[in-house]
Amino acid sequence: MRVAQDLHGRQHDTSSMSMHRTKKEQEIIEGLKPVCICKGIKARVFQERIKAGLTTVEELKKATGAGSGSCKGERCTRRIREILSKYGHSEVPKGQAR
Ligand code: FES
Repeated sequence: MRVAQDLHGRQHDTSSMSMHRTKKEQEIIEGLKPVCICKGIKARVFQERIKAGLTTVEELKKATGAGSGSCKGERCTRRIREILSKYGHSEVPKGQAR
């Protein structure tokens, strides 16, 4: 028997529970991950903006302030591009041919 403890200290038998997360659960977990460390912006903020219709790295940077931190986007631009890709919006980085 597999047992897990919840936030209230109660124990639950998880033997029969599926270990697969739903797509929604996976998105929530992904959303908690930091993307722009300089500005403290988590992935959820980008997910919401993409769902609202933004489709490019520049649009997301402008809408969120990402990329304007001390590293000037060195650390977060690639991560923003990855999130866009997960939602079907691919962008080739400047200076790279298709
Ligand atoms: S991590 Fe985004 S500007 Fe530095």
